[in-house]
Amino acid sequence: MRYVIANDSEEERTRLRLLAELTDPYTCYRLEEIGVEPGWRCLEIGAGLGTVSTWLADKVGSEGEVVCTDMQTKFLEDIDHPRIRVEQLDILQEPQRHGAFDLAVARNVHHHIPDRLAAMRNLVEMVRPGGHILYVEPDLHPAMADFHPVWRRAFEAFRQWGEQHDIDLFTGRRLPHQLAVAGLDIVSSRGETALFSGKGGDPAVELYRRSFGLIMDDLVAMGFLSQADGDEVDRLLDSEQAWLMNFCFFATHARKPV
Ligand SMILES: C[S@@+](CC[C@H](N)C(=O)[O-])C[C@H]1O[C@@H](n2cnc3c(N)ncnc32)[C@H](O)[C@@H]1O
Repeated sequence: MRYVIANDSEEERTRLRLLAELTDPYTCYRLEEIGVEPGWRCLEIGAGLGTVSTWLADKVGSEGEVVCTDMQTKFLEDIDHPRIRVEQLDILQEPQRHGAFDLAVARNVHHHIPDRLAAMRNLVEMVRPGGHILYVEPDLHPAMADFHPVWRRAFEAFRQWGEQHDIDLFTGRRLPHQLAVAGLDIVSSRGETALFSGKGGDPAVELYRRSFGLIMDDLVAMGFLSQADGDEVDRLLDSEQAWLMNFCFFATHARKPV
């Protein structure tokens, strides 16, 4: 267990809300494609604020159940839904349930976990044969091809910082291969990215302002980014004209063989 950005502050709650606003529509669209059925037992790993679990709970009906987990459950305590059970779970711990779930979802968590293969083994172990797995994970490549050189430099600095902390910002593209090697059948792996500007309240603007704000001193101290570039990133995020490339969020849907 180790989560570099882990804390239970209000600032982290705000960042999680922005991340959920950004990725919920896409995640739910993919879950619609999977076809979550009444009566299913679902598991969410690293649930953050639990917005995906809440969506699932409305789909599984009165016979179903959603086990909504995170290694730190402070932000899940307010969830009050008859079909959601909140549990503290570090995915690196030996699973206590075996083949218990029809669906397991992990979004924006796998890239933070240092021993990603062990985490994947544990998650797969908890899904029943024939059951579904959905990983939604970021991949840095669109941001690194942005027209604005300073945005590219900022994300290259972010990548280097991630590498120092065992955070793999190319996780999105690695998942189909890793899941196939783990013996799963890959149903689909598709990514979505978005252009955003400082206009119109896109959650990406505030999310990146806060996320870069968190690590900017480190980026400068480690020599990954200059302070001038850091200031320029802030100006870009304020600009209505600069349409910036976001991460690509890959959704990989796999099934456990029967
Ligand atoms: C970037 S947040 C993503 C939250 C949510 N899944 C979302 O996409 O909105 C990562 C979450 O993973 C959790 N996490 C990190 N390492 C974990 C681990 N080893 N086991 C379980 N949860 C973990 C953190 O506590 C945090 O809530």
